[in-house]
Amino acid sequence: MRDEHKLVKGIHHVTSCVGGAQEDIDFLTQVVGQRMIKQTVLFDGQVPIYHLYYANADAEIGTVMTTFPYRQDGRKGRKGTGQVAVTAYSVAEDSLDFWAQHLERHGVKNSGVKRLFGKDRIYFEDPVGLGYEVVGDNRDTRKGWTTNEISEANSVKGFNNVVMTVREIPSMEAYLVDALGFEKTGQEDNYHQYEINGGGPCKTVILREDADTPQGSWTFGEGTVHHVAFQVENDDTQKVLKDWLEGLGYTDSSEQKDRNYFHSVYCRSPGGILTEFATCDIGFTTDEPLEELGKNLMLPPWFEDRRAEIVAPLEPIKVPQ
Ligand SMILES: [Fe+2]
Repeated sequence: MRDEHKLVKGIHHVTSCVGGAQEDIDFLTQVVGQRMIKQTVLFDGQVPIYHLYYANADAEIGTVMTTFPYRQDGRKGRKGTGQVAVTAYSVAEDSLDFWAQHLERHGVKNSGVKRLFGKDRIYFEDPVGLGYEVVGDNRDTRKGWTTNEISEANSVKGFNNVVMTVREIPSMEAYLVDALGFEKTGQEDNYHQYEINGGGPCKTVILREDADTPQGSWTFGEGTVHHVAFQVENDDTQKVLKDWLEGLGYTDSSEQKDRNYFHSVYCRSPGGILTEFATCDIGFTTDEPLEELGKNLMLPPWFEDRRAEIVAPLEPIKVPQ
């Protein structure tokens, strides 16, 4: 194994474009049961859009779902190949009956229990049609957040895997295996499984071959996952990985961007999915304490002097705790 293959530790976060901000908060905190850990705004472009972060009880990297509520801008995305089709959370194996009932109680369309790669799972969709799963996997011992309907025993622990949809497997498999250091660990029908850094929860990527599905949109737009981020330790390891990717010919790796809670480099993968490599050494308590996370709108220092102008068009929101 090359040293560059030890740089990616697992999934860092997943970022999607959703509809309304309150609609998203209600879904992710009350139906999925995550803890809202950050309210901030999109750092790119000129249009003020919220950037909302959700995680487990400890606000750990690898449990972090982030969303841009794009309805405010009116731009819609188009689902298709070259995107993350499913964001899957680990839950306790004996909690799937609870999840089936919980989703029904909230009127959430779902698949019922299905089995893939030896794990029971339930697929469901958020209000704008983004795909989620709960996967029974007792190997995941991270501490879930609780609500008045979801006990810690039934809670989502953090990401189990993501399912990316591609028109053809080989070029995306080469990116995962030869460039990033994943190992192929299974295939069932048109599903191909890859694991990294010992494998298991948060260290698994599944490719779904959808040869006849047109490519989805790449821009920000309601109803699509924008990118998946993988963990790298710090700026130094991120730089080694960026140079390694460029040396293989993936020269469309971005410059480093300061996301306030981590530093990011982006690379468009050959399957069309935007991948990000995000550092793990800053974290979400850099601008507010653990117990206050998610309660107030936080702006990075370089936006503070424009706070009134940025906040004015944003939808008023209420965060349940
Ligand atoms: Fe990101």
